[in-house]
Amino acid sequence: MFDTNQFPKAKKYWYNGQFYDWNNALIHPMTHGLHYGTSVFEGIRAYPTAKGPAIFRLNEHIDRFLYSAQVAKMTVPWSREEIINAIKEVVKVNQLSSAYIRPLLFYAYGNLGLVPKFCPVHLVIGAWEWGAYLGDRAHEGVTVYILPQRRLHWSQLDMAAKLGGMYIQSTICGLEARLKGADEAVFLNLEGRIAEGPGENIFIVKDGILITNDRHESILEGITRSSLLNIASDLGLKTSIAPISKEQFLQADEAFFCGTAVEIVAITRVIDASEDESSPKKYVIASGQAGPITLKLKEAYHKIVRGENPAYEKWLTYL
Ligand SMILES: Cc1ncc(COP(=O)(O)O)c(C=O)c1O
Repeated sequence: MFDTNQFPKAKKYWYNGQFYDWNNALIHPMTHGLHYGTSVFEGIRAYPTAKGPAIFRLNEHIDRFLYSAQVAKMTVPWSREEIINAIKEVVKVNQLSSAYIRPLLFYAYGNLGLVPKFCPVHLVIGAWEWGAYLGDRAHEGVTVYILPQRRLHWSQLDMAAKLGGMYIQSTICGLEARLKGADEAVFLNLEGRIAEGPGENIFIVKDGILITNDRHESILEGITRSSLLNIASDLGLKTSIAPISKEQFLQADEAFFCGTAVEIVAITRVIDASEDESSPKKYVIASGQAGPITLKLKEAYHKIVRGENPAYEKWLTYL
């Protein structure tokens, strides 16, 4: 049944306290979370280091995972320690040296009314090798499509939580961007300023200053974003947290996406359909190549996640 080779399968996944073979799937089709996206999840990466695989910023991911569960009003039948141990076990059992780790809490089988009165909360954790999120050529820089549809607004749903159902907007718009010939989408917020990508935060560089927006611009404030703000100031770069207008974005010296899955990817070309979907305008950001500050941060991040910079050991959890 699970015979596609598009998914880089691992050996086993963890479900409610037990390991199962990857192809042995146990979830009922009438599961609440499957119908309404009543789930919360995390995306975490582990990297190879000289001391074996290390999970990057595991504590911060677990904090956000439990916060998301609270927003979704879930009673989680697993403690923080149990979840952390299970995540480490999943990477170990699969003998992965680098991994993308996906814990998911969801309202399971019980009833299908919108209110999951009789649905227990289940936890599943998978981990597998997942390479470059936007494809192998993304290191050269990507083309983004500025959508006519605006990002969900921070006043409508708590965007600090990773709520499964919220991602339908990311999926639809990610598909739309690719249909329009771009590599990824960019959302404007209801105010018409830059918000974020479907699963990525955005930074720009202007006159040597690294600028990113915050939660009041309708974004998930990512863990990579906050790591990069720290790394940038340690490198002596000036940073600023401020709204980013579409014009600032188009006229930036550099722009890039960041996130656990995407890591750091330069944005070099833009198709802007935000004003007129029928005749989108095309732009090149600065020279059309990844800029020097983007590359510097990328190199620093690459070393830090692989345990090559002792100053950031505190961000790594070894197995
Ligand atoms: C909507 C959205 N924005 C930003 C990010 C980046 O967050 P992080 O760096 O914590 O992965 C993600 C990924 O989790 C996301 O889904």
